Amino acid sequence: MATIGIDAVAIAVPKGYVELADLAAARGVPPGKYVEGLGVTRMSVARAHEDPVALAANAARRLFATAEIDPGRIGLCVAGTETAVDHSKPVAAYLHRLLGLPERCRVFEAKHACFGGTAGLLAAIDWIASGSARGRQALVVCTDVARYALNSPGEPTQGAGAVAMLISENPRLLALEPGISGSYSKDVNDFWRPLYTKEAVVDGHHSVQCYLDALAGAYEGFKDASREAGYHPDSLVRRCYHVPYGKMAKKAHRHVMQLEGKNEAQADASYVEQVATSLRMPSQVGNIYTGSLYLALTSLLEAEASELEGKRIGLFSYGSGCTAEYFAGRIQAGAGAFVAKLQLAEPLADRRCYTIPEYEAIRHADSDGDRLPLSAEHGYNGSVAFLGVDNERRVYSN
Ligand SMILES: CC(C)(COP(=O)(O)OP(=O)(O)OC[C@H]1O[C@@H](n2cnc3c(N)ncnc32)[C@H](O)[C@@H]1OP(=O)(O)O)[C@@H](O)C(=O)NCCC(=O)NCCS
Repeated sequence: MATIGIDAVAIAVPKGYVELADLAAARGVPPGKYVEGLGVTRMSVARAHEDPVALAANAARRLFATAEIDPGRIGLCVAGTETAVDHSKPVAAYLHRLLGLPERCRVFEAKHACFGGTAGLLAAIDWIASGSARGRQALVVCTDVARYALNSPGEPTQGAGAVAMLISENPRLLALEPGISGSYSKDVNDFWRPLYTKEAVVDGHHSVQCYLDALAGAYEGFKDASREAGYHPDSLVRRCYHVPYGKMAKKAHRHVMQLEGKNEAQADASYVEQVATSLRMPSQVGNIYTGSLYLALTSLLEAEASELEGKRIGLFSYGSGCTAEYFAGRIQAGAGAFVAKLQLAEPLADRRCYTIPEYEAIRHADSDGDRLPLSAEHGYNGSVAFLGVDNERRVYSN
């Protein structure tokens, strides 16, 4: 039977970021609290032109170009997001046109806080496994602009970006394991965003506990399913987690190791070996909500794909509210050479640092970004940008 999984991946980030040490100085806290305490060095800042549609389209266009993918073979396109641009029209509808996808294509948006991208990925795997794909491929794009109120505890855990993934048979990067996963869900109030605001409401410390409870539940389910399939958890050599900020992934891994009966020293050693490389890109971008787990996976592939060929890795996705899934996959032979061709980290190199007054001005302007008057002046040559609203319709450069 053919394997199914992630064939190729690409990211897009805004053109600017804030150094967390600068933000700490402006907020009167020691830089160590943000950089070591939260595990974040920089956070991406999106201008109004860099909305979730534009970020998603730029990630997908990069995916098609670097992995040499034919858009005509896409039969399913799912956008996972919790910062959609409309209460009805999905981000995926805009993508369909901006990417030139076929009319014979199922297109929709998936929302469940940071889990929306995983919901799309699992739907794509099932679509292929069921035979509905009939040889076609699926595009899953996770895209978000994470915003908390200025001067709030959540402010240093913002970010923005998109991760595009092609899901197919005989994937070149990561074969997933349909049926071997653990789910967990519970109605909790840890993080939400009322319809009247762009800024998330969060019960921060409660959200950390909800994440850890969901991880324990999903991991137990995963272990049961793995055991039935004849796998041992020790067969996982790397573990990627949902990364709202780097320290959360460290806490998560410590929790899993505790469940495995390991002591603190063993857990810390295992973190360095199994988790640390996956946090390099997230520490440069911040929280990108639905894409955070897949940015961690991208970071791991960029750093270690060659050494990990043939090896099994674990993946944990969490969406506040809450739902979670623990699943796994195997890095494919040839992934190292393919990753070198994909130039996964390139978008991170081409960015500028905003001062704190510049960042605050962007935030104030952005609060009314959905009513941006139409203008061709955006300065993003060659990439997709949101140009403004014309007669209630959002317009994008193409
Ligand atoms: C994560 C969050 C709750 C932290 O809030 P906070 O009350 O401002 O921060 P804390 O006081 O807990 O400090 C954060 C960490 O920095 C550490 N720290 C504080 N000052 C420090 C310093 N000067 N040097 C190094 N570390 C420092 C703290 O010890 C703590 O580490 P720990 O969690 O290992 O104990 C807040 O940023 C938030 O609400 N974020 C959004 C929600 C979120 O991302 N939730 C995740 C689950 S989805």
